[in-house]
Amino acid sequence: MKNILITGVSKGLGLIIAEVAINQGYTVYGISRSKTDEFEQLRLKLPEQILWKSVDLGNKNLDLNKIIFKEFINNKIPIHGYVNNAAIAYDDIITNLNIEKLDNMFQVNVYCPMVLTKYCIRNMIYNRVTGSIIHISSVSVHTGYKGLSMYAATKGAIEAFSKNTAREWGELGIRSNCIVAGFMETDMSKILKEDQKTRIYNRTSLKKSTSLESVAETVVFLLSEKADSITGQNIFVDSGTI
Ligand SMILES: NC(=O)c1ccc[n+]([C@@H]2O[C@H](COP(=O)([O-])OP(=O)(O)OC[C@H]3O[C@@H](n4cnc5c(N)ncnc54)[C@H](OP(=O)(O)O)[C@@H]3O)[C@@H](O)[C@H]2O)c1
Repeated sequence: MKNILITGVSKGLGLIIAEVAINQGYTVYGISRSKTDEFEQLRLKLPEQILWKSVDLGNKNLDLNKIIFKEFINNKIPIHGYVNNAAIAYDDIITNLNIEKLDNMFQVNVYCPMVLTKYCIRNMIYNRVTGSIIHISSVSVHTGYKGLSMYAATKGAIEAFSKNTAREWGELGIRSNCIVAGFMETDMSKILKEDQKTRIYNRTSLKKSTSLESVAETVVFLLSEKADSITGQNIFVDSGTI
């Protein structure tokens, strides 16, 4: 039985990743600030395979080692995978940049995932297991969209972090990859108007949004031993954005 830490499990992509993972026999340790009805329904289907803790990853004063790796998971439980999925999108043009909002986004999207990676790798070493780390990045890093420069900068930082993590820990069988996701229909993209969405989808080869299932299945493939030669990569699941 393999144990996976997933952030942002309450809704959107994280919820679908949790569903695919538990259906393939993984035990999910899920984190978000709140629980949704959809998440609760999933949890009740296989309660022994999905554990949940409310953590605000934007709170700089939290001791993540203590609350996640000692109180929630317990270091004697090996963590075989970490999916860095929770993120926020502070969307605005650069001339409106607000340093507090930017700082909060970097806290959730960059600093927290780096700290969680630190303790996941320590857990893997302590328990002598190999592992797979997957960060959810965004196609905005590679294509550019008006209003997304600050958000894209957080994901660019994560892509660089992932590549270097792969180099640093590969010898111990610890892999690190990013999934570069295209625009998906979730709460995060709800603020977009129909004409904005149409323009975004017209920049894809498939002329449509990226499916949550396609991204989630790729995440779970990267978690598995079937992907044991894949590390340090950015895997694009983006409807062929051009
Ligand atoms: N949607 C897109 O078009 C798109 C495109 C490319 C990449 N992505 C990436 O895909 C991933 C999932 O995005 P999504 O679209 O599924 O977003 P979403 O629907 O907004 O869900 C975000 C998840 O993160 C959690 N979360 C947010 N802030 C948190 C905090 N401070 N502490 C703990 N948990 C927090 C949320 O739970 P709570 O609110 O309960 O805390 C929720 O479970 C993100 O990394 C995003 O950047 C999204």
